[in-house]
Amino acid sequence: MALKIFKTAKKLIFTSREGLRSASDNGGYVAFVEQALADPAVFAQFKQSPVYQQILEHTSETQARQYLEIIAAQTPQFQTLWDKFGINDLVGGANVLRFSEYCRLSPSTLRYVKVASDLVHLFGDSLRGAHVAEIGVGYGGQRLVLDQLFPFKSYDMFDLPAVLGLVSKYLESHLLQSCYQTKTLNSHDGAKAYDLVISNYAFSELPTVVQRAYMEKVLKQSARGYMTMNSGTPDSLYAAERMSLDEIRSIIPNTRVLAENPLSYPGNYLLVWG
Ligand SMILES: C[S@@+](CC[C@H](N)C(=O)[O-])C[C@H]1O[C@@H](n2cnc3c(N)ncnc32)[C@H](O)[C@@H]1O
Repeated sequence: MALKIFKTAKKLIFTSREGLRSASDNGGYVAFVEQALADPAVFAQFKQSPVYQQILEHTSETQARQYLEIIAAQTPQFQTLWDKFGINDLVGGANVLRFSEYCRLSPSTLRYVKVASDLVHLFGDSLRGAHVAEIGVGYGGQRLVLDQLFPFKSYDMFDLPAVLGLVSKYLESHLLQSCYQTKTLNSHDGAKAYDLVISNYAFSELPTVVQRAYMEKVLKQSARGYMTMNSGTPDSLYAAERMSLDEIRSIIPNTRVLAENPLSYPGNYLLVWG
């Protein structure tokens, strides 16, 4: 029934000119985001849109169960926090599943909780009061999940202008414990030092020239990093026209390559530093 509200967009909308577009800047995605911004009925169900689910909100139930196992082993303290993490399923028509008596969440929210679990495991309490940047933020789900755990000092969210409109609409539907700011790469002067940069399936999907700009303005300015990568090696989904892993490591030498667990696509890996 909900699907009736999703009208096929009449035209494709690209944010950047050819050569500067990420894999997700494919015309249909931004056109849909603009529909969700213009029509409250579409916003109320945006997570159910097939066009949107090509880019985000496509985590499977099987993957979700694998995330749950890792979260339980890595951060058992999260077992009392399912209600809090459920905040990310209140708006946008999330596909909520029942995993146990206490854990009723969407698979995509569980993916964001797994990233939060990794951050606690890797960096622990050093993230309290941190200055954080996230590149390629979707609708802000990772931000909302992290807000249940860390009182960050600042959280700069980098994405395309229309997508940042959706982020503001989504996050302003809630009451956050700390704060956020939305930014485009061009609007940022690169002077700020960060304690952590996060970028999952996002920095790695940008063309090389845009990656190098983010590298200069954000990645190099961050003491720690956590990025899920689907480019950079010959085995990657995006094997061409992206910075190579060797080039990234020549600029940020203390990076570690970790397995993406569970592997969401062959050739993916985590890049972590700090
Ligand atoms: C596959 S989604 C991943 C979203 C989110 N990190 C997650 O894990 O759910 C890729 C994200 O990159 C964003 N993106 C596309 N072009 C971008 C750009 N030039 N700068 C920053 N983000 C961009 C998209 O709008 C989208 O939010």
